[in-house]
Amino acid sequence: MRFSLLVTVSCALAVASGMPSEDAAGGYNLHKRPAKLPKRAEAQPPRTGRPAQTSSLWSLYDKTFAHTHYVDLSHTIQPDMPVWRGFGDIKFGEAVHRDTGKPFSYDKDLFVANAYNLTTDQMGTQLDAPAHFNPYFAASDEIPVTFALRKLVVIDVSEKVKLNATYAMVVDDILLWEKKHGRIPKDSVVFVRSDWSKTWPNVNTDEFPQVHLSAVQFLHLNRSILFHGHEPLDTDMTPQFDSERWLLTHGYAQAEGVTNLDKVPPTGCLLSTGFPKFAGGTGNYVRYVAICPSNWEYGLTPGSFPEAPLPQFIEPLKWNPEKGYRSRD
Ligand SMILES: *[C@@H]1O[C@H](CO)[C@@H](O)[C@H](O)[C@H]1NC(C)=O
Ligand SMILES: *[C@@H]1O[C@H](CO)[C@@H](O)[C@H](O)[C@H]1NC(C)=O
Ligand SMILES: *[C@@H]1O[C@H](CO)[C@@H](O)[C@H](O)[C@H]1NC(C)=O
Repeated sequence: MRFSLLVTVSCALAVASGMPSEDAAGGYNLHKRPAKLPKRAEAQPPRTGRPAQTSSLWSLYDKTFAHTHYVDLSHTIQPDMPVWRGFGDIKFGEAVHRDTGKPFSYDKDLFVANAYNLTTDQMGTQLDAPAHFNPYFAASDEIPVTFALRKLVVIDVSEKVKLNATYAMVVDDILLWEKKHGRIPKDSVVFVRSDWSKTWPNVNTDEFPQVHLSAVQFLHLNRSILFHGHEPLDTDMTPQFDSERWLLTHGYAQAEGVTNLDKVPPTGCLLSTGFPKFAGGTGNYVRYVAICPSNWEYGLTPGSFPEAPLPQFIEPLKWNPEKGYRSRD
């Protein structure tokens, strides 16, 4: 049994006590009010035994990553989330015991569980596997583990999108970015900020900001990036999916449905990419997390709030038939 803690970037700033709270992006709150705050036990030096062997990576963690700011770039997966018009509705339910057909309960079974009817593996924040368009390239479970951590570049075209909601990023936008910030590093991830996701889940999935074929080709062929990503659920509006089709049929992955790119600087952060391994999967539900320098204004820092044990909420999680998922209201 697992649960995940969905914290968004605005949390860190919200509450003076340092406890993450109100989430402007509409996700779950970590807290309404901290109910029972566990005291963090003072670290005691071990009475016996030598300290664990350290490494340069552990020193790097202590020096750097323990103080970095973690920014969530993924949407919460929920049934009222928009999907591409060709796919069916998503349904969440309470998992039921196969013998009785009754939902599990904390009282009788000690635990509860959820059931999901997902009509597609192409939904929410994702990493498209090339097998989505070409069976000879990698499926979800075949994407290498080395995708886990990369340099993150953010190219902002939101001003152009304000003037034209279907604006397609072109090579000139990338060259302009490079004039200001320098050459895009090889093997990095490049996310395109359009602010399309600002009104999520109320978004237009038929007309949206695009990434032009020439731009994705330039990023891969001239700059050798690992993958690019964008806020909408598709790369472009052409009838034959020109940009997306070129990428996936040439063995490149791409990120879709990313958000909070206004909370990430153009250069200097890393991107952590974590996703489940579905056998033969064509898309991946992904948690993208930007790991930004300690002086960056957004994001959460490890140890700045209770993490283990996690704090209790005032309101219990309950099945909400109106929403169609478990919530605290
Ligand atoms: C999922 O679909 C199956 C088959 O149609 C149905 O029996 C089940 O109740 C559905 N579960 C949810 C959570 O919607
Ligand atoms: C908006 O941008 C798209 C993509 O570049 C283009 O096809 C369209 O003509 C533009 N619309 C306007 C009104 O300029
Ligand atoms: C990208 O690389 C190709 C092949 O080397 C080159 O012909 C082209 O001019 C480059 N594009 C740009 C915009 O620099």
